[in-house]
Amino acid sequence: MAGVGTVLVAAGSSERIGAAFPKQFLPLGPDPMFFLALESVLPHSDEVAIVTLSDFVGTVRSILRYAGATQDLDFRGARIHAVTGGKRRQDSVQRGLDALSEDIDLVLVHDAARPFASPALVERVVAAAREHGAAVPVVAVPDTVKRVEGDVVAETMDRRALGLAQTPQGFLRAVLEDAYSKLGGADVTDDARAVELAGGEVAIVEGEPGNFKVTTPVDLELASVVANCRRGLGPGYRAGTGSDTHRLVEGRDLVLCGVKIPFERGLDGHSDADVATHAVCDALLGAVAAGDIGFHFPPGDPEFKDISSLVLLERVAEIVREKRCRVVNVDVTIVAQAPKLAPFAAEMRRTLADALGLDVEAVSVKATTTEGTGPEGEGLAISSSAVAVVTERPPLR
Ligand code: CTP
Ligand code: MG
Repeated sequence: MAGVGTVLVAAGSSERIGAAFPKQFLPLGPDPMFFLALESVLPHSDEVAIVTLSDFVGTVRSILRYAGATQDLDFRGARIHAVTGGKRRQDSVQRGLDALSEDIDLVLVHDAARPFASPALVERVVAAAREHGAAVPVVAVPDTVKRVEGDVVAETMDRRALGLAQTPQGFLRAVLEDAYSKLGGADVTDDARAVELAGGEVAIVEGEPGNFKVTTPVDLELASVVANCRRGLGPGYRAGTGSDTHRLVEGRDLVLCGVKIPFERGLDGHSDADVATHAVCDALLGAVAAGDIGFHFPPGDPEFKDISSLVLLERVAEIVREKRCRVVNVDVTIVAQAPKLAPFAAEMRRTLADALGLDVEAVSVKATTTEGTGPEGEGLAISSSAVAVVTERPPLR
């Protein structure tokens, strides 16, 4: 019986990314990077050997079981093996080859650090490998290429004669195993090179610019944006709204956006009753779908008696960060017949911006009257509404 086996190499230590965690396990949108790479080869694979760092073999197994694999790691019609890699990439590939069963006669080798190979690309590689024995996806070189010597340019290359090699690369198993057995001490950075060194011919198929390898921190940021876009999350923006109303009473200070405003009456409430800050809190909590202000700071709780609402806002900013989001901007409208609020707008913006750790340009505060109508117009209450936009943070930020 013949079958396709994929060696998914995920045993590198991500030195060029410099993260505390191997890049192949960092989240891209909701999924870890290696999982996206796995999903792209799965439809064409009867078996997949995931080769990873020894400390992460258990992690791979757990993630796959969580995603629906059986105890034996049967997953979406493929049998998965999770094995430990080696020092160099080629050592990891060898370990993966060793893990594939004898039925496998065609092998794909794919980088776990390439999360975006399309199904069409994988199909092209499989077909060309069957036909030619060895096939590699290649993309055109977009930039002018210089050969350098020390600090100076030695030569400008003809980039039309050059191509950038990607994965998955495909091989008849016999071709790849023969090439690896002849490698001796040679270092290779892709598998096609092993076949070239053994004198074999490698066919090229059209690669994809989107199938880039996540190598540097910038690649990781790009990959995060791409993953979110493909999930329909756009660049990861979310919006929320909030509103609040409090009664105006004698004997209380009037505090709006954390600023004490001279006025003969103030707003009634358990905390300082800062309606504007409350609206901002609710807008932010709404943007990250984390409940509302009443849930986090229950009105009867003595801890919040007369508390400055800026303290609540700072805590809400923490909740936004815990949800891996960053505030983009906030816009607040205060509805009050009196006092006149425009003279305080700049200070209100600065106060909110400070509490949120934002540039003042990211915060807008506006005020309006209701031409004497309704409870605000009659001076019975002040109300406020707010909109907040947040963005999901790239994993390294
Ligand atoms: N790889 C591997 N075993 C190694 C080295 C690399 O399985 N000993 C894998 C990586 O996990 C990655 C792919 O080979 O999926 C491509 O390698 P690269 O982008 O160089 O990843 P790292 O080696 O992790 O990164 P760096 O070179 O910056 O340390
Ligand atoms: Mg490497």
